[in-house]
Amino acid sequence: MKVLVVGKGGRESAIVWKLAQSKVGFEIFTAPGNPFTARYGRNVPIKESEINALVDFALDNGVDLIFPGGETSIALGIADEGERRGLKVFAPNRAAARLEASKIWAKSFAKRYRVPTADFEVFTEEEFDDAVEYVKGQRFPIVIKADGLAGGKGVVIARSVGEAINTLDQFMNRAKFGEASRRVVIERFLRGEEVSVFAVADGSRWKVFAYARDYKRLRDGDDGPNTGGMGSISPVVLDEQTKSLIEENVVRRTFEGLAREGLKYKGILYFGLMLTENGPFVLEYNVRLGDPETQAILPLMDYDFGEVVVSAAEGNLKEDLIKEPSRFSCCVVAASRGYPERPITGFPITGLEEAERIADAVFLAGVKEEGGQLITSGGRVLSVVATGETLEEARNRAYEAMDKIHFEGMHYRRDIG
Ligand code: AMP
Ligand code: GLY
Repeated sequence: MKVLVVGKGGRESAIVWKLAQSKVGFEIFTAPGNPFTARYGRNVPIKESEINALVDFALDNGVDLIFPGGETSIALGIADEGERRGLKVFAPNRAAARLEASKIWAKSFAKRYRVPTADFEVFTEEEFDDAVEYVKGQRFPIVIKADGLAGGKGVVIARSVGEAINTLDQFMNRAKFGEASRRVVIERFLRGEEVSVFAVADGSRWKVFAYARDYKRLRDGDDGPNTGGMGSISPVVLDEQTKSLIEENVVRRTFEGLAREGLKYKGILYFGLMLTENGPFVLEYNVRLGDPETQAILPLMDYDFGEVVVSAAEGNLKEDLIKEPSRFSCCVVAASRGYPERPITGFPITGLEEAERIADAVFLAGVKEEGGQLITSGGRVLSVVATGETLEEARNRAYEAMDKIHFEGMHYRRDIG
């Protein structure tokens, strides 16, 4: 079966690596891909945002299945366009993708179906003055979120009235994230432990298959600016009561709500949760796999992920294939100097082969190939992933492997896991 994976980061490297092991026997294309995905198939120079070109490529080359890694092509409607033209797409349609593409829609949806989420108010373009009045009467910190997609940067935790008003001004008046931030959600700050929960769905059935954690801050001890993610672990061990609260009050209510809205959800649904003293609350929905969580999750699967993906895309989820992981996984990301603000790139990478002998995988992300040499080309350059009987074993092996890798300006967190 021919599959087109869309994206070029560490997540897509992990997806391609896992699909290459499947009994389905995939012939893999990746658009645009990276030097790692090129080892397992063919890279195609089409951007994630060019959904018509992606679907055209699939049709011209006999591709059966499109697997979008990130949200860009999903929010633009690659599932609608692909399915209209007879392809299978492992992703929700544009209407269901509003769970991620519009925080206002997602929050209102959660409220309609009694999915626990922080109390909130919505303010539209014309309501800047009302938003300012509102924050003046609130307790701090308070959370301000741009309505639309902002590449993971659209959430500000404001610690004072001044910071809140400044953020509202940036978002609403100065359109810091364009149209995406002209409308905002302002919500209560929640305390607790964060966990990422992943479910797979086929349009009517669903199943939770992974619990993971990502480390968003740049530096050790959860310090420094937010990034796309500096590492991840899986599974996160939770007691049965917590798991059942998550699956009943969050996951089930969400899928039942989607069904009642006539939205046949297909693909991955990722719940970003806060485990509070009042139970699990949804912080955000994502309509795709997380990065770097995916890089930790996929190496743990001792079942055929490719078969699960194909069955879900065909509307016939083989949920019995899915098993709980029996091991632990740790993923450590190496970034370029200057990341996330202004990464400095263009440096040769050494030690990969040695690292690959120690770790389960070394997934490339911001890397290009020039004259047979791998060169850094992005902020998050690569990740080392190791599994073990215990988290400690996984972590030790990941760091042992990372020690072998070098490039100028390389830095990574020492405290993942
Ligand atoms: P989001 O993109 O909505 O997940 O927000 C990004 C990050 O902001 C989350 O991973 C949390 O760490 C934090 N966050 C979002 N909403 C809240 C909230 N209501 N209370 C506390 N932290 C939050
Ligand atoms: N790990 C967070 C994300 O993928 O959005």
